[in-house]
Amino acid sequence: MTFEGVDWSGKSTQAELLSSWLREQGRTVVSTREPGGTPVAEGVRELVLHGQDMSPWAEAALYAAARADHAASVIRPALARGDDVVCDRYLDSSVAYQGAARGLGEDRVRELSLIVTERLMPDRTFLVVLDPEQALYRARGDHDRIEREGAAFMRKVDEGYRAIAAAEPERVVAVDGARAPDEIAEEIRERLRPLL
Ligand code: TYD
Repeated sequence: MTFEGVDWSGKSTQAELLSSWLREQGRTVVSTREPGGTPVAEGVRELVLHGQDMSPWAEAALYAAARADHAASVIRPALARGDDVVCDRYLDSSVAYQGAARGLGEDRVRELSLIVTERLMPDRTFLVVLDPEQALYRARGDHDRIEREGAAFMRKVDEGYRAIAAAEPERVVAVDGARAPDEIAEEIRERLRPLL
């Protein structure tokens, strides 16, 4: 399962709530995040979020490199063991941020991620939808390189996500992120039940 949404949409809270609930059900859960999840991918995270400005394709390729390592050394082995994997961001983040918002093209960016992960796709993706203006209103503290892009960029990310949800209704479940966290978590559990 993956969680997606604009920055400050509350998706990380939902990923944590779902992981805890699955564990309470007696399931073994690997809870992870992107960019990150392996030492190499955490190194990429530092470079891409806190390093120098870079060309859009360099950024897309770095996210893809982190994802390749993460998929091969964390996600695939966990799935092979029969564990549940809950991942905070995955390939749809690249499609929305680099493909749509940076303008590299959704199809090309998706294909890059599919090549480097040997076509590893989530069974279910929860898109936490929150108006970008409302999301930015929640923002405080230090911002990373992507978060500093501002409102116009986040609107494009949001549009990119909505297009993904519309194109893949079987996989992507959009949930209204403007509600209380517990209410959102309840809906996510209900939507997941048929898969468990
Ligand atoms: P996130 O982990 O949600 O940030 P934080 O830990 O600060 O809450 O994501 C980090 C940023 O990376 C976020 O702005 C989205 C961006 N990102 C991409 O642009 N492309 C990607 O493929 C991924 C995984 C993240």
